[in-house]
Amino acid sequence: MKKIMSALIIAATLQSGLHAQTEAKPTEEQLYRPHFHFSPKKGWMNDPNGLYYKDGVYHLFFQYYPDGNKWGPMHWGHATSKDLVKWEEQKIALYPDELGYIFSGSAVVDKNNTSGFGDAKNSPVVAVYTYHNPNREKDGKIDVESQGIAYSLDNSKTWTKYSANPVLNNPGIRDFRDPKVFWDVKRKQWIMVLAAQDRAHLYSSKDLKSWSFQSEFGKDVGGHGGVWECPDLFPIKVEGTNEEKWVLIMNINPGGPNMGSAGQYFVGDFDGKTFKLDELFTKQLLKDKAAWLDWGKDNYASVSFDNVPEGKRVIIGWMSNWEYAQEVPTEGWRSAMTMAREVSLKRTKEGYILKNVPVSQLKSYEGKSIKKTITLTSENQLLTKSDMDLTKAVLDLDLKKMTAGKYTFMLKNALGEKLVFGIDNTAKELFIDRSQSGKTGFGNHYATPITKAPLNKAFANAKMKLLIDKTSIEIFFNDGEKVLTEIFFPNENFSELTLATDTQTGTLKMNAHELLTK
Ligand code: FRU
Repeated sequence: MKKIMSALIIAATLQSGLHAQTEAKPTEEQLYRPHFHFSPKKGWMNDPNGLYYKDGVYHLFFQYYPDGNKWGPMHWGHATSKDLVKWEEQKIALYPDELGYIFSGSAVVDKNNTSGFGDAKNSPVVAVYTYHNPNREKDGKIDVESQGIAYSLDNSKTWTKYSANPVLNNPGIRDFRDPKVFWDVKRKQWIMVLAAQDRAHLYSSKDLKSWSFQSEFGKDVGGHGGVWECPDLFPIKVEGTNEEKWVLIMNINPGGPNMGSAGQYFVGDFDGKTFKLDELFTKQLLKDKAAWLDWGKDNYASVSFDNVPEGKRVIIGWMSNWEYAQEVPTEGWRSAMTMAREVSLKRTKEGYILKNVPVSQLKSYEGKSIKKTITLTSENQLLTKSDMDLTKAVLDLDLKKMTAGKYTFMLKNALGEKLVFGIDNTAKELFIDRSQSGKTGFGNHYATPITKAPLNKAFANAKMKLLIDKTSIEIFFNDGEKVLTEIFFPNENFSELTLATDTQTGTLKMNAHELLTK
């Protein structure tokens, strides 16, 4: 009898345990699908492509493999947004064809119909992309990559590939890809910047169909720890002046500041043919070797939108890293994009800083708010818990009267998993430590070494804007002067934010908002 009873008890416990487990175990969607960052419904995604604005709509294309959750034959997926925040996935825009897979590239609004694909009333949108030929690759050929174009006359609903593709043949360089095209207003010409292994190549054109080589840039400058990919080139005003500078973005894989893939930038001048580094920026490079757009491990292939209203320069990046992107624990889909960000250029005595902050449209998604000011002590202090959903939040943190020591924020869940990040005012650096953030066993450098971003001094006051989704954090330090973006995969959503300091003085003012998502 005793035996039967205990067997019954065991069975009951097992059953209820099992039941509780099935009930409690969140699905991959519930756990990992971002609330407010774009991710494809199914399949694999990498770089943003063909970013442009027209007729009230922003278009985001992306490197896409619909039939698997790892990189495969590349298509251009498509999503649209009215405000750069809320994206709606559309049908696939470009499929691979006999010339190859459709690799990364850009799109431009051809307002004067220079290409002749449209007419005076209907300006065509022209996509310029890389053909990557898998057959030539298999045969061990060098000339695997060339550039092709396609156009749309119906706001990207349908696309026609140009019958005389490719428009730019391979000159004998294995890695020859990711064309970014823009209209050079002063010279009335199209300019294409593309990545040619360890440097940028610049071409010009009058009609987007015939291209002539102008110059190259970058063989001996900046970061060269990996292949150069996904460039961008655009003019921008130096903050607070009327002076125009040119920024050249170049993504690099591997060789980022915290391992794996990352984006770097250069500041200089462009005369219609050649990009030349600015003198102050050259000095800055002697000290820093490279200028990084984002110091986190998860912002790659950031490039900018064409034709954004009010001359704003808006970029978006792929929120992952080639080191582990194909292994992260989502199954039905893989990867999300960063929040769209507006960039600006600041000049200081030490050099140039390409700042980036979330686009202002994000403000209209701010819902329920929590404001509090706390006096800092060496105790661990709770900033927010059940009063705010920390899987969709934007927090403005304002630290005053800082001292030496560490300001350590912890985003935690009930399982004791945590993402640790903050400011080390003694070592003069920002950091993110995701080694205890849940699932971490992928890539060689996913968890360690921890991410660090050097600061040029200790701060007495500092500001941080945090953008937190279910599986990502974007940290904008001092109005985007230093940015860190990273993803994470806890086994239960993070629900609590705390701050620990080494100090007995100073205050933290927090203005936090839950984001409205529909
Ligand atoms: C960068 C990249 C590009 C290429 C694409 C292929 O992430 O390697 O250089 O065009 O991805 O998907």
